[in-house]
Amino acid sequence: MDKKNKTVLSGMQPTGKLHLGHYLGVLTNYVELQKEYNCFFMVADLHSMTQFYEDFAEAQSYILPLVSDWLAAGIDPGKSTVFVQSEVKEHAELSLILSMYTPVSWLQRNPTYKEQQANIEKALDSYGFLGYPVLQAADILLYGADAVPIGEDQLPHLELTREIARRFNYLTHSSTLKEPQPVLSKFPKVLGTDGRKMSKSYNNTLALSASEDSLYGEIKKMKTDVNRVRKTDKGNPANCPVFTYYDFFATDRKEEIENSCKTASIGCIDCKKIVADQERQPQAPFREKKIEVDAEKDPKDDSE
Ligand code: TRP
Ligand code: SF4
Repeated sequence: MDKKNKTVLSGMQPTGKLHLGHYLGVLTNYVELQKEYNCFFMVADLHSMTQFYEDFAEAQSYILPLVSDWLAAGIDPGKSTVFVQSEVKEHAELSLILSMYTPVSWLQRNPTYKEQQANIEKALDSYGFLGYPVLQAADILLYGADAVPIGEDQLPHLELTREIARRFNYLTHSSTLKEPQPVLSKFPKVLGTDGRKMSKSYNNTLALSASEDSLYGEIKKMKTDVNRVRKTDKGNPANCPVFTYYDFFATDRKEEIENSCKTASIGCIDCKKIVADQERQPQAPFREKKIEVDAEKDPKDDSE
């Protein structure tokens, strides 16, 4: 089948600068998929309202920076459709319709619902926040998407999308809605500087556009194996978030570092330096392109 007939949809919330988790977890997939599929990439500003409900303008102020990060990472608006969720009113409309087919208990059981409530210091008790996955289902089902590139943390939402589609079709005796498939990247889960999942809401990110100094500064502050207090203590890399970065960077040294850590022949400072040096690699072309993208004039400015 002609791959251009297959539809891909994905989205990100505009919550600030893109970080390494986005890049490794999903964005590299966006860039690959757009070569072969009919892709829609959406700025999920309504989703971000579940947290920015006090100041929606703040959420809106992150839209352009997010799109500029996407372009810098290689999304090509000539190939893919890039759009803002709140400007396509049908997302909100379909979300309302799908809500009639979604049992509340499914939403209460959603693991990200509980996880975010436990981890984010903000009241997240709204009806809209509970219904977050229904809006996400609307985003996907509206386009009849075949595939959805996402990080591992989004798998429960995709499963709910599939369940909502099935239930809608069952209750309406139709086959209106198409069940989408997830597409995971090689690195679906990237840990943040505190060892939890890398996320803007957890304040533990390594920003893609960060300068080299600030990047090393962030990595230097990271906690390592808690039992390794002195350099002479033998470490256990399995308990160290820094070690997980060897899956992406300096991969050829992973084994050696594992042994050196276990035998205390390398210190954490040196170990972090190795990662930080390598971590700059994907950022360099990204940063260059970002300067180019940001220098381009907004066509609307001409009319002023
Ligand atoms: N919930 C997703 C996230 O936080 C963002 C999102 C909204 C999304 N709608 C989507 C992702 C539709 C994939 C498809 O990352
Ligand atoms: Fe972690 Fe490296 Fe320190 Fe071992 S040496 S505890 S892997 S930072």
